[in-house]
Amino acid sequence: MALRPILQIPDPRLRQVTDPVAEFDDALQTLIDDMFQTMYEAPGIGLAAPQIGEMKRVVVMDVSDKESEPDPITMINPELIWLSDELWTHEEGCLSIPEYYEEVERPAECKVRFLDRQGETVELAAEGLLATCIQHEIDHLDGKLFIDYLSRLKRDRVTKKFTKAAKRAAG
Ligand code: NI
Repeated sequence: MALRPILQIPDPRLRQVTDPVAEFDDALQTLIDDMFQTMYEAPGIGLAAPQIGEMKRVVVMDVSDKESEPDPITMINPELIWLSDELWTHEEGCLSIPEYYEEVERPAECKVRFLDRQGETVELAAEGLLATCIQHEIDHLDGKLFIDYLSRLKRDRVTKKFTKAAKRAAG
């Protein structure tokens, strides 16, 4: 396992649509292990493969609270198959936009179909934090970020801030 650097906006890879996984080989298992290690270390509750520059439809998450046992979930080629009409607002953050949090309104419940790390099909119904996390992570696979749900003013402001920081870091 290895810790992988997490890309930050405005890295263009965060805006690309990723490719479905076709092979459940050792490389995929290593990628998943690296993603969990990187997510837990950050720490975060979800991570999508493009956030570490792997343009594949893989996400990992764990929304268990600190006092409970870890509850790692791996989703490969996930698809939202149902979204509730009822909405829920939650303050979201993203490891690719560190230390920036804003409320986002999304469907309160969802159903998702995906392959687990063995390649078995799984369907899962989720609500609350898990439903939000699933939708946030699946967005990443299509190059979408939570700031896209904010007003243009807020989105432009945070994008500018990170673009400036990236330029400074590049010298
Ligand atoms: Ni994110």
